[in-house]
Amino acid sequence: MRKHKDIRDYIRTIPDFPHEGILFRDVTTLFADTRGFRMAIDQMLLPYAGMRIDKVVGLEARGFILGGAIAHQLSVGFVPVRKTGKLPGPVLSQSYQLEYGEAVVEIHDDAIAAGETILVVDDLLATGGTAEAGIRLIERLGGEIVGCTFIIDLPELGGRKRLEGLGMDVHALCA
Ligand code: PRP
Ligand code: ADE
Repeated sequence: MRKHKDIRDYIRTIPDFPHEGILFRDVTTLFADTRGFRMAIDQMLLPYAGMRIDKVVGLEARGFILGGAIAHQLSVGFVPVRKTGKLPGPVLSQSYQLEYGEAVVEIHDDAIAAGETILVVDDLLATGGTAEAGIRLIERLGGEIVGCTFIIDLPELGGRKRLEGLGMDVHALCA
């Protein structure tokens, strides 16, 4: 009998993208597959079944695709955390360190009300810098984060430890 496909079977690894030496985990192949996409959404939500989640926050860009589907599944609203300069209304900004230099992400300052419970969504956790910046924005608005859910965790880059150090529940489907 044919073995059921695992989440990993849908993800493609592309060497030397966007720089030499990087093994890029390409989830577009998972997104494009009917069963793979649903499996990812269902598994990303498993630990949070029955919990109160008022809104889903997705991190640009692949967190928008996953977060939109997850918000629809939960019948709640979706809030984007975007790279700087993309959101049209008044924003809160948060900078974070990259390997070389700094990046800034933003959220609309009325997107979350104090006390709302939030699920943070992205495709991949590497150093955790992007997720930490998103977490800080949500917490500055008074949101209470229920968890951070990813498809892929690259544990050698320390993101999980970093987010757990902030008191976060971290869920990932594969390493
Ligand atoms: C990737 C990924 C995460 C982030 C993880 O996004 O989708 O958002 O990197 O890295 P970190 O844990 O070290 O912060 P990318 O920077 O490629 O942006 P994009 O999705 O807009 O292309
Ligand atoms: N973001 C940071 N590291 C990555 C990787 N190896 N694959 C895809 N996205 C990434």
